[in-house]
Amino acid sequence: MSKTILVVDDETSILQSLEGILSDEGFEVATAESGLEALKKVEETMPDLILLDIWMSGMDGIETLEKIKDLYPRLQVIMMSGHGNIETAVKATKVGAYDYIEKPLSLEKLLLSINNALAHSRLTEEVHFLKEKEMKKYNIVGKSKAMADLKEQIRIVAPTNAWILISGENGTGKELVAHAIHRLSHRSGNPMIEVNCAAIPEDLIESELFGHEKGAFTGAATMRKGKFDSAHEGTIFLDEIGDMSLKAQSKTLRILQEQKFERVGGTKTIEVDVRVIAATNKDLETEIEKGTFREDLYFRLNVIPMRVPSLRERTEDIPSLVQEFVSEFSLIAKVEPKTFPSETLDLLQQYEWPGNVRELKNLIERLMIMTQSDVITTKDIPAPFNQKARSTRSGIETVFTSDSLKEAKGEFEKAFIEEKLNEYNGNISQTAEAIGIERSNLHKKIKQYNLGR
Ligand SMILES: Nc1ncnc2c1ncn2[C@@H]1O[C@H](COP(=O)(O)OP(=O)(O)OP(=O)(O)O)[C@@H](O)[C@H]1O
Ligand SMILES: [Mg+2]
Repeated sequence: MSKTILVVDDETSILQSLEGILSDEGFEVATAESGLEALKKVEETMPDLILLDIWMSGMDGIETLEKIKDLYPRLQVIMMSGHGNIETAVKATKVGAYDYIEKPLSLEKLLLSINNALAHSRLTEEVHFLKEKEMKKYNIVGKSKAMADLKEQIRIVAPTNAWILISGENGTGKELVAHAIHRLSHRSGNPMIEVNCAAIPEDLIESELFGHEKGAFTGAATMRKGKFDSAHEGTIFLDEIGDMSLKAQSKTLRILQEQKFERVGGTKTIEVDVRVIAATNKDLETEIEKGTFREDLYFRLNVIPMRVPSLRERTEDIPSLVQEFVSEFSLIAKVEPKTFPSETLDLLQQYEWPGNVRELKNLIERLMIMTQSDVITTKDIPAPFNQKARSTRSGIETVFTSDSLKEAKGEFEKAFIEEKLNEYNGNISQTAEAIGIERSNLHKKIKQYNLGR
């Protein structure tokens, strides 16, 4: 697709000659004779680049440039002027012009500047796209009270320099929270270095975090910088901190107190400015009792504790999470999104989700790949995700509210059959066989207790 260039000049002869030259070069060309018309044309044609005259009657070039940059900050503009002076050029660049060329225009210079500007705008667009993608990747979905509170806490704490301990079950989104904190902090321009303490063998963790000097131990052939070095002026994310060795814990504590450390096998003290965000799914108080986690480190880290709630504490977030994962996967896998009707979402909200959001995400991925139809019905949900356990069991309570044995027996029978029918997905033959009665008899009871679906 050819690129569109909008040429803005109040001299008709210039517009005509530029239109001819640029069309010959294979560009789409739009023209405007004033600043105001230019703004209108930008809206209509969405050009990739603008050539803008500085001296125009009415709204002049600089003013037009300001307006354009205000509305379309990523749109590249090259200024042109016959009365060129360096001051105007500097001013234009300050307002955001990409380049400045003098009249009479040299064709060679003009094309060079155009090509550079287009290459530059391609890069800007790409960076913008990647940033959006990155932001989306770390988007925390959920409007439940528990999640709203957590987001509020993140917003307050992120801009401070406080060290943070994030706790929560597997797959609740601890890593996501750590990224959100870094992104909203003053350190977001610098890296966030992630260390999974559980994945590194205990005898290597110290050298991984703090680096080592040449010859510090067998295999240390060269000096190596550690993660704390790399995280200077940024954030280090110590994931699974409960698995960190006691020695590494004490060095980490010293960084917290003095912002300095030594490499393994070294004597030189290295000063760093690092913010630590730690995460764990262990109960650190139990680890302290066992003697595997330092109490002082725990207290220093736990100044701002953040607990990410389990998914079963916020089942009302399940529909929006499902929606999020459906659109994510249809984008990644280039498949049509599928619909989850409310009965299906209801069913998903009754499962316990021991693996939390990660487990839900995996199930949605599986359903998107394995289900043929566009609508995911309750029948498409495989075990163990299809248990309707919690809803019916409570029916048993009513057994004890009636005084007559006959009534209580009836209540029990109703709850029992409902539970079993659910277990066998409403299949009458299977249910009848499992509970040891005739099919016809089961039919009768279903009718009697009004259990038909
Ligand atoms: N609120 C949320 N919104 C959108 N996606 C989420 C949310 N919470 C978790 N996820 C997704 O679920 C997956 C698991 O999240 P994450 O890795 O952050 O969990 P974790 O608590 O660090 O797990 P583990 O304890 O196993 O390390 C990721 O793919 C993440 O993107
Ligand atoms: Mg994690």
